[in-house]
Amino acid sequence: MVSSTKSLVLGAVWLSSMGALADSNFNWDALRPSTKLDWKPCYSGFECTRLIVPLDYDSTAGANAAIAITRYPSTSSKSDYLGPILLNPGGPGGSGVDYVVEAGEQISTILGDRFDLVGFDPRGVSYSTPTVSWFKSDAERALWIPSTQSTVYPSLNESEYAVAQQWARAQIQGQLAQERAGGYLQYITTDNTARDMLRITEAFGQEKLQYWGISYGSVLGSTFAAMFPDKVGRVVIDGVLDMDAWYSANLTTEEVDTDKALQAFTDGCFAAGPDNCAFYAPSSAQITANLQALLDSAKTNPLPVVTPISYDVFGYTLLKNAIFDSLYSPSSLFQILAEGLADLAMGNASTIYNGFIEAPPFECAAGSNTSSPQIPFHENGFEAAVSIACSDAVEVNDNISQLQQFYFEAQKVSSFGDLWSNWRVVCSGWKAHREGRFAGPFGAANTSFPLLVIGNTVDPVTPISGAIKTVQAFPGSVLLTLDAVGHTSINAPSTCVYGYLRQYFVNGTLPEVGTVCTPDSPLFPSSADNSTTLGRRTLNPGAKLSRAGRGIAAARRRVTRH
Ligand SMILES: *[C@@H]1O[C@H](CO)[C@@H](O)[C@H](O)[C@H]1NC(C)=O
Ligand SMILES: *[C@@H]1O[C@H](CO)[C@@H](O)[C@H](O)[C@H]1NC(C)=O
Ligand SMILES: *[C@@H]1O[C@H](CO)[C@@H](O)[C@H](O)[C@H]1NC(C)=O
Ligand SMILES: *[C@@H]1O[C@H](CO)[C@@H](O)[C@H](O)[C@H]1NC(C)=O
Ligand SMILES: *[C@@H]1O[C@H](CO)[C@@H](O)[C@H](O)[C@H]1NC(C)=O
Ligand SMILES: *[C@@H]1O[C@H](CO)[C@@H](O)[C@H](O)[C@H]1NC(C)=O
Ligand SMILES: *[C@@H]1O[C@H](CO)[C@@H](O)[C@H](O)[C@H]1NC(C)=O
Ligand SMILES: *[C@@H]1O[C@H](CO)[C@@H](O)[C@H](O)[C@H]1NC(C)=O
Repeated sequence: MVSSTKSLVLGAVWLSSMGALADSNFNWDALRPSTKLDWKPCYSGFECTRLIVPLDYDSTAGANAAIAITRYPSTSSKSDYLGPILLNPGGPGGSGVDYVVEAGEQISTILGDRFDLVGFDPRGVSYSTPTVSWFKSDAERALWIPSTQSTVYPSLNESEYAVAQQWARAQIQGQLAQERAGGYLQYITTDNTARDMLRITEAFGQEKLQYWGISYGSVLGSTFAAMFPDKVGRVVIDGVLDMDAWYSANLTTEEVDTDKALQAFTDGCFAAGPDNCAFYAPSSAQITANLQALLDSAKTNPLPVVTPISYDVFGYTLLKNAIFDSLYSPSSLFQILAEGLADLAMGNASTIYNGFIEAPPFECAAGSNTSSPQIPFHENGFEAAVSIACSDAVEVNDNISQLQQFYFEAQKVSSFGDLWSNWRVVCSGWKAHREGRFAGPFGAANTSFPLLVIGNTVDPVTPISGAIKTVQAFPGSVLLTLDAVGHTSINAPSTCVYGYLRQYFVNGTLPEVGTVCTPDSPLFPSSADNSTTLGRRTLNPGAKLSRAGRGIAAARRRVTRH
């Protein structure tokens, strides 16, 4: 989720995306929007198109939106071809175009070559138009949200004034958005993106949707299945959000397992031993205490950091975000966190800053050319996340004391409630709410094919309770449990999960009820794990899948910054 430019992350785009990974290679402005899929080569090996859809589905004679779509084309023969699979990397605000460009080849390793793998930027996001923003230029945005803050949730525990501060910022953002983008914002919603997915599917000449959505992508997939139960071909939702929580702008329940993920860090660090965990101490409780001491110190003694490419004050908010961020992807980030914390304990914040926060400062000359009129804001992950989350949900008119109370309740659920409560605070100034937008029911008894629902046993932002609830809301769907710590199956690569994914998409086979997979990598890999993995790599075809999975996780992190 949204923070600033992260994904299902808030701050600037807490959950979502950095976009712009691919923009040096292809000029989307030069591609004329069409009512058909008019593919043009792009990004070497990919094909791109812009599909015209109605901005307002209730008034299809009015203005249009144009959805940016990129496919990693199937290489199979016509008779083996099984159609498109639409992909969403999360956010909201994550660019599906960037995701497929970065990860299409690896996804194809997992799902096979019989599908077109289709990344699209949801309306409002990155290369799709209208591109949401309430800033007039990248420079204006950078003055409001510095690059090192763009994926950070401001901690509401930073000071006693933090809630009031963030409330005030939310009022400004809401007012600017209404004044500068009020004409279209109300249409940039998940229900309309679900309608767009149906249009994309139909433009491929298919009747039913094939889809794999991660994190926020589960909201999109569930919404689609609830709105169009008879158009469900194959739908995988992975890292599942509670729909009631999403549409009520109250994500508190998403944090019920966050502290368990942190516990997995301290327990795992102790178990890994001093050779494999740099922040080791002789008990898990001692590691927890050492971590708390760093947090307490960060508030009163923030550390100045100057690196060759950037600089910032490393205080409580940044430390809390670095820790939170690592919980998304333990098998790749716990060791990095441990090294960062160990250096921090010695008074050196550069390691952890570099691992989790660092971004080069904005420079006018290096930014996109904002006088180019059509697609001015490729990096709009923050604005897209805020506007989709807030326009989807009920209107939030909480005042400061109500938000303070909300945060107070949320911190009882998780020690990361100070970050996560921003998802509600940011909506308190939001004014774009469309009458008649989707508001449930959040399920359907008669989907034309069962959904495959994937949940990790310890997911820091989409707990398995959301997956269990969603399976009940879509009778016939099946839960595949991944016994792992981390956010979505993407962040805990599992050859077992990949086998079930492929069977589902290729043959329509669901796992047996009660199936549990395990991840391929431990939380703190040792050099022994390294050598066995390397050894197996040559012998075991599963190792290729595992490597592809790690590539997808890295790509998703680049795209969503989480
Ligand atoms: C599915 O169920 C809903 C309500 O339960 C009903 O309105 C709809 O017509 C049904 N669709 C199909 C294809 O049976
Ligand atoms: C938010 O959700 C939590 C957990 O479900 C609940 O306890 C709380 O009352 C809700 N707050 C609001 C303002 O809806
Ligand atoms: C901090 O640690 C980094 C990474 O180990 C190192 O390059 C740098 O020189 C250290 N800075 C100071 C001031 O010791
Ligand atoms: C930006 O775009 C405008 C209009 O297309 C063009 O005239 C101008 O030269 C461009 N500036 C830069 C720095 O590329
Ligand atoms: C905030 O709203 C609540 C509920 O409407 C109200 O009781 C309270 O007085 C308000 N507080 C402030 C400071 O306006
Ligand atoms: C807020 O910060 C203080 C340190 O200033 C810390 O003692 C407290 O545990 C923090 N609260 C939460 C919920 O993390
Ligand atoms: C699909 O089913 C066929 C026939 O039963 C089988 O040979 C094939 O291995 C299955 N493919 C996958 C990916 O499960
Ligand atoms: C494992 O291998 C990777 C890449 O070869 C290396 O970066 C990492 O340091 C190794 N980890 C350990 C614990 O040896």
